[in-house]
Amino acid sequence: MQKKRVMTLVLSAVLAMSALTACGSSREGAPASAPAATEEKTETADAAADTSADASADAVGAGFEAGATIGISLPWLGTQNWKEAETMFAEQLSAAGYNPIVQAADQKVPQQQQQIESMIENGAKVIVVGPIDGTQLGSVLEKAKAAGVYVIGYDRLIENTEAVDGVVQFGSVRTGVMQGQALLDGLKALKGDAPYNVELFGGGPADPNAPNFFTGAMSVLQPEIDAGNIVIVSGQTDFTQCATEDWDNSKAQKRMDSLLAGNYSDKEIDGVLSPNDGIARAIITSCEDAGQPNPVVTGLDAENESVEWVWQGKQYCTVAKPTKDLVAKTVEIINSLQAGNGMPSTDVKTDNGKIEVPIYELDPVVVTKDNEKEVFADDPDRMALLK
Ligand code: BGC
Repeated sequence: MQKKRVMTLVLSAVLAMSALTACGSSREGAPASAPAATEEKTETADAAADTSADASADAVGAGFEAGATIGISLPWLGTQNWKEAETMFAEQLSAAGYNPIVQAADQKVPQQQQQIESMIENGAKVIVVGPIDGTQLGSVLEKAKAAGVYVIGYDRLIENTEAVDGVVQFGSVRTGVMQGQALLDGLKALKGDAPYNVELFGGGPADPNAPNFFTGAMSVLQPEIDAGNIVIVSGQTDFTQCATEDWDNSKAQKRMDSLLAGNYSDKEIDGVLSPNDGIARAIITSCEDAGQPNPVVTGLDAENESVEWVWQGKQYCTVAKPTKDLVAKTVEIINSLQAGNGMPSTDVKTDNGKIEVPIYELDPVVVTKDNEKEVFADDPDRMALLK
């Protein structure tokens, strides 16, 4: 871990607070700005390894002890990306010398609030949160901030609170744009000339990503609907009609069953917008059960089973957003905080309803059968599925 030169930061509370609202970021090696109100901070060359009471009390802006406790609060383990995150955070944080507490909350908001409370009580210096509901963690995260804990959103935005230092994610609107474009491309490639019969699905409405995925996709699809090239036979085009409570695949499958029974007894369905892979497989299964020819279906996550289905031509595409990279980026930020360098700088910011949150964005990739081997060239586990 990089050690810093002796430096003394004298910051008035006012200055420090303005650093907070400006999301106080600094480049590696530059003087750190403190993201919360503080008095005088002194950092020594040994700060990174210093376990003295002084250093650990100085949690914000001046780094913290190398073996610090880091809390990871995940929303559930219902999709592969969260299971991967659980394992990879535990491994990567332990390898970096931290003491990780990694917990998942089974889609239950009070459980997630309670888990975060106990991370604060256990002295976590950073808490990384993938919220079940982006708007329901304000008070517990404000408690974390008051205790000098850094709060990083993971994969999902944390909304309506000042108590967040940054979010690591793939960009949910642009992911949705990719899904919408892939659906359109797939229809043109596999279903002949327009018009195409299509249905739309969204993810769990509490998850801030879900409406954004849908908005992004609709920015591509709505003009095609308006031009008559895409026909939403059910007429259900609002996110609220298309959302899938709790990202529950079985609910999506039931909705697809009834859409097919009610609207497609005399027609074929050509394509379905799906927000992730689990829902994609539920939709495809429903179409199979109804005796429909395989429609063009989108996805997200590059889950193992969907990686196989894309390879077999059962699912048209998925979008890869590698957990390995997202976790590594998060650990890189934690290392910066630990060393006293504050949050890294970023030009991307998102309004969370209260503040402009710094966003650390990685690039998602659309995966079809055509580029699958290329995309997973460095991922031996997924490559092994392409047979
Ligand atoms: C994640 C997806 C995941 C979904 C359901 C979203 O917030 O971005 O990767 O499939 O949650 O777990």
